[in-house]
Amino acid sequence: MASVTSLTASVHQRLASALSAALPEAADSDPLLRRSDRADFQANGILALAKKAKANPRELAAQVVSQVVTGDVIKDIEVSGPGFLNITVTDQAINENLAARATDPDARLGVPYAEHPGTTVIDYAQPNVAKEMHVGHLRSAVIGDSVVQLLEFTGENVVRRHHIGDWGTQFGMLIQYLDEHPHELDHKAAQVTGEEAMSNLDRLYKAARKLFDSDEEFKTRARRRVVDLQAGDPHTLAMWQKFVDESKIYFFSVFEKLDMEVRDPDIVGESGYNDMLAETCRLLEESGVAVRSEGALCVFFDDIKGPDGKPVPLIVQKSDGGYGYAATDLSAIRDRVFNLKANSLIYVVDARQSLHFKMVFETARRAGWLNDDVKAYQLAFGTVLGKDGKPFKTREGETVRLVDLLDEAIDRASAVVREKAQDLSEEEIAERGAQVGIGAVKYADLSTSANRDYKFDLDQMVSLNGDTSVYLQYAYARIQSILRKAGESRPQAHPELDLHEAERALGLHVDAFAETVAEAATEYAPHKLAAYLYQLASLYTSFYDKCPVLKAETPAHIENRLFLCDVTARTLHQGMALLGIRTPERL
Ligand code: ARG
Repeated sequence: MASVTSLTASVHQRLASALSAALPEAADSDPLLRRSDRADFQANGILALAKKAKANPRELAAQVVSQVVTGDVIKDIEVSGPGFLNITVTDQAINENLAARATDPDARLGVPYAEHPGTTVIDYAQPNVAKEMHVGHLRSAVIGDSVVQLLEFTGENVVRRHHIGDWGTQFGMLIQYLDEHPHELDHKAAQVTGEEAMSNLDRLYKAARKLFDSDEEFKTRARRRVVDLQAGDPHTLAMWQKFVDESKIYFFSVFEKLDMEVRDPDIVGESGYNDMLAETCRLLEESGVAVRSEGALCVFFDDIKGPDGKPVPLIVQKSDGGYGYAATDLSAIRDRVFNLKANSLIYVVDARQSLHFKMVFETARRAGWLNDDVKAYQLAFGTVLGKDGKPFKTREGETVRLVDLLDEAIDRASAVVREKAQDLSEEEIAERGAQVGIGAVKYADLSTSANRDYKFDLDQMVSLNGDTSVYLQYAYARIQSILRKAGESRPQAHPELDLHEAERALGLHVDAFAETVAEAATEYAPHKLAAYLYQLASLYTSFYDKCPVLKAETPAHIENRLFLCDVTARTLHQGMALLGIRTPERL
């Protein structure tokens, strides 16, 4: 485990010891060190500490300065303004730090593992059986996959759960409909699989839903059919299994298009908890967490009321004995906490389900299944909007099929790649087009914080300028082309050389990679990593504009700049991988 102490951490440590020498009661205080435009770092913590100690902040700052050891890491430290400290580090410290990252034998660029890893169960990428996937499912999949990568990279034990919608009333409806209209699926669906079979299923679903909503007698028959299903009637179960298998083939094809690994054993849908439902209800009722109300088993909350002022309960079991979404989620919590031994539960689910999770989590806390040691968190995401700022729909007002959207992104991206391509074959253009198109879609999603809505704008997403994955992928490919030209696969650092302003800025940013990854992982916030990577590519661009690489003054300068290119590229590559995005070597 070769982790590298970041410059921020080294400076922090030197400042903290100077501070406790100057003011012993401030021994464990935070000097509040930040990267700064004026110097390399600025510390703003002296002001508050001086206030607390009733000291003059500028004087305290000057005392700290006199205690700081300079030379090896800190080159300059001075008091500024009312008592800030401006700190500049030595070029050598930057060079040596990067060299240590580059030679990390674990190929982790010196990023440490978390000190106390635990087990996280993450619920994401959960489409519904017999229904087409839409943009909401895209967000859950993309955000969830990135959080998985981030957590695993920090050493967390991650268990993935794809809680697909494969149980409940709608299956009674579908199965009953198909039994009554056998001709509607057989000749069409028998020979087709994947996307086509899915749109047949989706059509069937809509027809069944229409009848269900308009025909009371059909509704009753459909409801009876759910009871058959949940009781395990073989014929009903066999039909259900067909729907599930068909749908999974389709899900896998979409996840493959998304360049995302979804493994069959991790798909544990709502049906997977069927055997636990009765016990979950019994435990809740016996402990008094849930009570019978008008025949239904309910949990009430002081702060959750409907528009009429009456309390809105969480219904765990309906008055007809049926179990719904809440019973399944509560059983899943028991499974994840007691069988999978989770310390953290994450749910990557649309913000529109926040009330449901609020009630489910509170119920589980009252039951003692969740507590201070086992926490649940909904990583709620906002709505995907069209260019017009309204929820994303087709011109006909229908939800947009995810597959169509991805195909269009790949087409657009392929056009961009083709236009810029210099020596790529048709096959390579198609492969890169997919990597750029899917990357563009993922990046657009991941670069805004999850809870915000975002506009799905393909023109913007595949633009070469601005905060897009294409921009980052080109930056990476350009570096690879320079390294190829130089014929140096692993250039070495020359720590003795002085650095240009643009080299220092780039180097200091590379140094911040570990802290950014740690922050993005603990806060489940991939957008922080995306922002970091965009800035990395921007700093690289200005370095490249200002500092000739292959034509630098001496062979040592050439190699040191190539070295800087190489660490930047590796940081970009690793960072993008944590977002689930490829970085092709040539574009
Ligand atoms: N299948 C649901 C949907 O499409 C999302 C499931 C979320 N996960 C959960 N444990 N409830 O909206």
